[in-house]
Amino acid sequence: MSSIQNKNIKDLSKDREQVKDAELNIPKALSKSFENDINIDKNLKENLEYVLFTQNYKIALEILKKQFFSINSISKIDKDLLYNSVLKIIENIEYKNKVFYYICYLENAELHTYTHCLNVGLIAHMFGIWLGIEEEELKNLTITGLLHDIGKIKLDINLLNKRETLTEEEFEYIKTHSYLGYNLLENLPLSDDIKYGVLMHHEKINGYGYPIGLMEDRIPKFAKIIAICDMYDAMTSPRLYRQKNCPFSVIREFEQNIYEILDANLLLSFLQNIAYVYIGCDVMLSNNEVAEIVYINPKNITKPIIKINDEIVDLSKNKDLDIVYLI
Ligand SMILES: [Fe+2]
Repeated sequence: MSSIQNKNIKDLSKDREQVKDAELNIPKALSKSFENDINIDKNLKENLEYVLFTQNYKIALEILKKQFFSINSISKIDKDLLYNSVLKIIENIEYKNKVFYYICYLENAELHTYTHCLNVGLIAHMFGIWLGIEEEELKNLTITGLLHDIGKIKLDINLLNKRETLTEEEFEYIKTHSYLGYNLLENLPLSDDIKYGVLMHHEKINGYGYPIGLMEDRIPKFAKIIAICDMYDAMTSPRLYRQKNCPFSVIREFEQNIYEILDANLLLSFLQNIAYVYIGCDVMLSNNEVAEIVYINPKNITKPIIKINDEIVDLSKNKDLDIVYLI
């Protein structure tokens, strides 16, 4: 087992540079914003499925906030209430995977811990389904996603929202949120899977994570799953200092630069499933043309086959042409 304390200063400062989003790894290459990215199509606004999604999302957010706020005064987390609020969000969505698409178009998304926790709970739920996880375990996994950053309610909000690069001391302070979260849940009647998932969601398989520095098989499955969901949401959602990133840019980043810190089998499963979510979506290309995604090649996820007007184009054969944002 390696320890975060054993890392040299160079490693730590490298971590800090990457961890601009308070405590998550947001690679600098992804920090550019796409101005048109958050425009919401009028058709989507009038889509009943999307309208119901946003209504139920807001209700779930309020439920989650109340649970977080009352954590010090109650002796239990209402798992059923939380889980049902997540199920309600996707209840009216015919093709459940579309929830990823709708998350991208949430209007006035509140830029704080609660929104992120709800998104991670939703993503973890869908990921659990893709992995074939059975009902009771799926419920616990979803709850782990919802609670994974609960420790942040103990931190200074001004530091969590700081736009500038964190100092080494500030970063060390932010990192305490995982065990602060564990402390909040430690004596509650929740399964150890949930508690350890919350405690270890920032562990990395190369041993350079925190708070312990566990490697590979020593990291519990829930923590590995939440780590992927956490990073995906952090990279695709807007933040105070940047707008959100295109999911395909994020998938590229996962494939090229982040794979070494996440469980390889889980990551492969996640990326293959997540890419299929966007079939049928309209996208803006790097040459400013609009296209529709018609087929995802599982061997080259970020270079799908697209349709530009009536012309079919295989992006894997066009090295200079990329998807830059969803329309
Ligand atoms: Fe976290």
